[in-house]
Amino acid sequence: MSEKKTLIEAYKEANYKILGHGARDVQTLQDAFSEVDGNLESDIYGTGKIIEEFQEKMANILGKEASVFFPSGTMAQQIALRIWCDEKGIKKVAYHPLCHLEIHEEDGLKELHQIEPILLADKDRLIRLEDVTNIQKDISCLLLELPQREIGGQLPKYSMLEQISTYCRERNIKLHLDGARLFEILPYYEKTAAEVCSLFDSVYISLYKGIGGIAGAILAGDKEFIKKSKVWKRRHGGDLISLYPYIISSDYYFNQRINKMEDYYKEAGELAKLFNSCHAIKTKPELPVSNMFHVHFLLPKKEVEQILIKVYEETGVGIAPYLREMNEKECYYEVSIGDMYSKVPKDELNKSFAMLDKDLQQASK
Ligand SMILES: Cc1ncc(COP(=O)(O)O)c(C=O)c1O
Repeated sequence: MSEKKTLIEAYKEANYKILGHGARDVQTLQDAFSEVDGNLESDIYGTGKIIEEFQEKMANILGKEASVFFPSGTMAQQIALRIWCDEKGIKKVAYHPLCHLEIHEEDGLKELHQIEPILLADKDRLIRLEDVTNIQKDISCLLLELPQREIGGQLPKYSMLEQISTYCRERNIKLHLDGARLFEILPYYEKTAAEVCSLFDSVYISLYKGIGGIAGAILAGDKEFIKKSKVWKRRHGGDLISLYPYIISSDYYFNQRINKMEDYYKEAGELAKLFNSCHAIKTKPELPVSNMFHVHFLLPKKEVEQILIKVYEETGVGIAPYLREMNEKECYYEVSIGDMYSKVPKDELNKSFAMLDKDLQQASK
């Protein structure tokens, strides 16, 4: 075993990798364009066949009147919340303390829009109806992130979602869905995208997570809301003269992968079981409810890294490209299942997990 190899280097060199759809290289774009007619006219500032047809397609799938293509979910969601706040004249929204807007967007909502977030629930659990009914201040909008990524991709029961939605409608509180991974949760809920979205006034979905495009997002809602969101998209500089590289690739990978979500979900369950059968490993949630979950190693990060590098080198199976430290005795990483997992031969996978289990057991002594 080479002493100096980092975990990411060892992962990249592994013959098989269990995560995602594969390398984020330019081949992703080349494949999407391989059969596109070169004479196809580009979209221009939000108009044209390419963008309009895709927006209509996505609005239909999400069961909303209209939708708009955004370069990023970050831009789309801040705008959605701004619109709901302006409409009610109250610059307050509620969401989970670990949602994307709160921890990954450099306070865009506060700095750009002066919107005050009210944080619901504890960091390590999902928002429940009583968190919403207990809000003391008047709010314009409640944002729910499904699945709640930073706690392993957990989901509330569908009946809880229905109750929250009914409560918000009765109180004139808009309900917005951060559905970055909406398609990935449908097999668990056994619902269509339109059924889930019918509980929400506005919805954002990502085109580069389970779908595996290059970048991009869709914001959907009623016609009036979408009209306003296009004005804000321009104000934010999101109205790129041409967005077709993102749209064509989004549509290409959407068509390829939308029917694979059930497989990814089942495979996540199978893989979580393998992890949980190993010494000093626990997955969160124990039974995944989408294609994602977190893997917690109950050993120091440095030790786990060395064990993983050895496993990759000896078995050729890459399990984790990175680890994050929880504390001195625990580390974790995020699993997202895509096309790669099913390409790993089962006997190779089992061999690598047998070795991982043995080495973790040894290290725990
Ligand atoms: C739950 C969630 N919401 C929103 C976003 C923002 O998406 P984007 O990278 O398109 O801005 C992400 C991206 O990781 C996400 O995971």
